Amino acid sequence: MSAHEFAVVVLAAGKGTRLKSALAKVLHRAGGRPLVEHVVRSANALKNRRVYVVVGHQADAVRAIVEPLGAKGVEQVPQNGTGHAMLVARRAIPARVKYAVVVPGDAPLIRTETLQALMRTHIHGGAAATILSAVLSDPAGYGRIVRRTDGRVKAIVEEKALADEQRAINEVNSSIYCFTLGKLWPFLLKVRPENVHREIYLTDAIALLDQQGERVLAEVAPDAREILGCNTRAELAEVDRIFRERKRATLMDAGVTIYLPETVTIDPEVFVGTDTVIEPNVQLLGKTKVGANCVVRSGSVIRDSQIEDGCEVRQNCLVTDTRLGKGVVIGPMAHLRGGAVLKPGARVGNFVEVKKSVLDEGVKAMHLTYLGDAHVGRGTNVGAGTITCNYDGAHKNPTKIGANVFVGSGTELVAPVRVGDNAYIAAGSTITDNVPKDALGIARGRQSTKPGWAAERRKAMRAAAAPKKNPEIARQQKRNRSSDNG
Ligand code: UD1
Ligand code: MG
Repeated sequence: MSAHEFAVVVLAAGKGTRLKSALAKVLHRAGGRPLVEHVVRSANALKNRRVYVVVGHQADAVRAIVEPLGAKGVEQVPQNGTGHAMLVARRAIPARVKYAVVVPGDAPLIRTETLQALMRTHIHGGAAATILSAVLSDPAGYGRIVRRTDGRVKAIVEEKALADEQRAINEVNSSIYCFTLGKLWPFLLKVRPENVHREIYLTDAIALLDQQGERVLAEVAPDAREILGCNTRAELAEVDRIFRERKRATLMDAGVTIYLPETVTIDPEVFVGTDTVIEPNVQLLGKTKVGANCVVRSGSVIRDSQIEDGCEVRQNCLVTDTRLGKGVVIGPMAHLRGGAVLKPGARVGNFVEVKKSVLDEGVKAMHLTYLGDAHVGRGTNVGAGTITCNYDGAHKNPTKIGANVFVGSGTELVAPVRVGDNAYIAAGSTITDNVPKDALGIARGRQSTKPGWAAERRKAMRAAAAPKKNPEIARQQKRNRSSDNG
């Protein structure tokens, strides 16, 4: 079968009206990728194929996804239906290509093996068309497969054209087909837009083929979930859920512990090592790689980052474009981003933000700190509330702190600035000049202490708050007192 060169046509020009979205349907994301990207990747795994993507709505954005994957975009303007989309693809497919697999861009769960099996059935069965069907408990919304008594397919009837006795048919059209192109084209050219949407339906070619004695087969998908489309937001959410479940199952099979797995979101390209524990409500996104024996605690979101073996990411950390060396512990509630690098033994604690900075071995920044565009040398202690003032309103400037430095709490380091090895920075300093190695940098106003000042102030405030006496009321009270006595 794979000796033949064949075409895969991905239908991705439609708008997706039922999503009620400004974004074209196939650009919506499920399982961490745009829908159309999943479909093209499944097609790409087939041998001897050329992939054509029919684009229309937001064509440039769709091309930008599929062309880097080696597919060719073919533009359909206007979008006159699925049959019309195939006729547009016809112009791009070389005449020598004998077979085409057709996949809608909104059915992202389809697996390569299922497409392969469909082609085998098609070629071995000598069919003009083979439809991938599915049996659904609720077939509403799908085209129904009408079979002849011998099992061959007579027609696909769209939901809106169903006769009453056809409504109960629960074998549906997935919109995934294999065609012998030489047989499809003459009939497809005869299809007329005779339906409520005035579109040329690819499904109408099926009845025409059958009427001319061509073999039309339907193969039932082994797992009905694979053919789910994303026509509504509810379907999109369901498809996303299935992708996430597949990914978690793969990781758990490979030796990763995931608690309350249904709350955990992991993108397709993420790698996680064995014996790593993932707590509830964690998201591992993009090209993240987490090593073995790590713990990622509740609520942490990690994107495009490398976490080496034995790390602990405590609760509610946000980690993007970051590298954590072996055994690093961060958080809770740390924000690392933009090329942050923590070498082994570095430690970042709560409410610490690290951007585009390197923390060498054993650096500690435990509380309420911002390190941006900084390099912090081995063994340095960064006190609570330290801030690198890296932005001067126009440029980002670097801060270089040497090894074994003690940065006192509440320090501001106004970049560009350097602090040498083994230096001390006094707490509360605003450092604007370089501090040489072994020196003390201190930059703050001197304290003056005024004994008794606080007590005086309290007394003054009490006096001010006491109610003023009204002279008229006071006289009246005095009169009352003397008449009582009398
Ligand atoms: C289609 C089938 C239906 C099947 C269902 C499975 C037809 C007429 N109906 O209906 O039998 O049960 O899929 O999900 O084919 N597209 C284009 N150009 C167009 C129109 C559509 O490229 O002019 C693309 C869409 O972007 C989409 C795919 O074709 O990816 C299917 O179109 P959609 O509107 O979703 O068809 P359904 O109504 O779902
Ligand atoms: Mg659809």
